[in-house]
Amino acid sequence: MTDIAALLLSRIRDVPDHPEPGVMFKDITPLLADPVAFTALTEALAGLTVRYGATKIVGLEARGFILGAPAAVRAGVGFVPVRKAGKLPGATLSQAYELEYGSARIEVHAEDLTGADRVMVVDDVLATGGTAEASLRLIRRAGAEVAGVSVLMELGFLGGRARLEPALDGAPLEALIRV
Ligand code: PRP
Ligand code: MG
Repeated sequence: MTDIAALLLSRIRDVPDHPEPGVMFKDITPLLADPVAFTALTEALAGLTVRYGATKIVGLEARGFILGAPAAVRAGVGFVPVRKAGKLPGATLSQAYELEYGSARIEVHAEDLTGADRVMVVDDVLATGGTAEASLRLIRRAGAEVAGVSVLMELGFLGGRARLEPALDGAPLEALIRV
């Protein structure tokens, strides 16, 4: 593990049985509160954005907003929020996806992404991959190209990487930490 990965991991708190019994919640608030760690994370995400030639960062509500927005500023690219259904006021593209129990829907303003864009998706955690997979569908439906997906942490035992692979279609999935 690199020094930066070790620093980031040391600032993520495991909270057992949250939000429900049997789930180990990954709490990133200690990392956000540590300016050295948050800056290192922002630099790393911005570096991936530049390396893969992205023109925009798409951040996934809500924690992807916190990580994606400063990375976009640092990388000198635009930021586009992908929101949970019903929040965006303009014309949206909407994508449903399956959860373990039930389904969810995310949306993006259609005018925020064009055929000229290459998009880096940023989020805190890749778990089952459902949220990220739905975001890739939205990006492609908007006519934009996928530059990649960058997450702080990949929970390998949940198989998100395999689920995401077809939707990535050869684009990279970068995880700064894998557990
Ligand atoms: C969490 C996490 C990721 C997503 C990962 O978000 O922040 O966005 O789940 O899960 P998946 O890979 O199985 O789709 P969540 O929707 O719980 O809440 P948030 O609004 O706090 O980000
Ligand atoms: Mg989230």
